[in-house]
Amino acid sequence: MNYARIVGTGSYLPARVLENSELEQMVDTTDQWIRERTGIERRHIAAEGETTCDLAESAARHAIEAAGIEANDIDLIIVATTTADCVFPSVACLLQQRLKITNASPAFDVQAVCAGFVYALGIANTFIKAGSARNVLVVGAETFSRILNWKDRNTCVLFGDGAGAVVVQASETPGIHSTHLHADGRYAELLHVPQGISRGYTEMQEQGAFVEMRGSEVFRTAVTKLSEVVDEALLANNLDKSEIDWLVPHQANLRIIKATARKLSMTLDKVVVTVQDHGNTSAASIPLALDVAVRDGRIKAGEKLLLEGFGGGFTWGGALITL
Ligand code: COA
Repeated sequence: MNYARIVGTGSYLPARVLENSELEQMVDTTDQWIRERTGIERRHIAAEGETTCDLAESAARHAIEAAGIEANDIDLIIVATTTADCVFPSVACLLQQRLKITNASPAFDVQAVCAGFVYALGIANTFIKAGSARNVLVVGAETFSRILNWKDRNTCVLFGDGAGAVVVQASETPGIHSTHLHADGRYAELLHVPQGISRGYTEMQEQGAFVEMRGSEVFRTAVTKLSEVVDEALLANNLDKSEIDWLVPHQANLRIIKATARKLSMTLDKVVVTVQDHGNTSAASIPLALDVAVRDGRIKAGEKLLLEGFGGGFTWGGALITL
């Protein structure tokens, strides 16, 4: 039982859909600009009072059901999020309680922004390979709408809310072949929420805590780093790019996705693209895209997938898996 394998996926999107046309009424933008520069057409927004844990719970229940296990079989929960319900406890602990898991197994959050799911998957893989867990619930969940400045057209048109989840299980056959995690804190100020508890709670309450981004610089670095991580994953597994069945990328911008697909000489029909309907849901975007393509029958058991993500920090990473 030396391998870790994804045995169930699930996702959840809040009911409220915010179309580009509505954003035209809120900031100086157009549907055409958003579509042409990002590929985004709409995004889901959590209802007032609907929290990251609410979204995570729905996605997790779907993944657990798909895996055919009981919630109490889960012996580790990792939630990737930047928008936790509260300072503490972690969303993972709140989720453990919601799922009525009483086996006292560990639960914690991972904060690596849009690369969070790949980070969490890497950690799950390591726990299982070390024999420290057998059924890991890995969730990416965000209410990113809460940290957006809805007057800033540079950022508010890009993001959305949602959650995706997978159950990763110990297996005799390989599922997760490798994960490749990176960070470079020198880029912190290109994409950040500069306020926080430790920098002054009162100031944060007064000024708010919102995403700030230097878009074109983020764009350029994302394309370079994602291209590098694709090469790294292929090399580590001695695979040719033609052997990858599906690219399941982070959904930030269709132009970034197309650049990575070009690198793999992949046509877009082999790339899972949900950015038009979800926007950028940060840590939720990869498991959301994965679940969509598994449930609509595009991705089938036994196929080889390359997952990749890039986010604030900067953080980035890839995972090569057989489903
Ligand atoms: N509507 C209309 N115009 C907008 C706009 C909007 N929503 N947002 C920005 N603009 C304007 C800018 O103000 C700028 O105007 P100016 O030339 O008069 O200054 C112009 O559009 C071009 O801005 P620029 O940032 O150079 O455009 P771009 O081609 O780089 O596209 C992004 C902007 C944000 C779509 C793009 O940079 C991007 O996707 N970056 C990466 C985002 C990302 O991946 N973030 C998360 C990583 S997880």
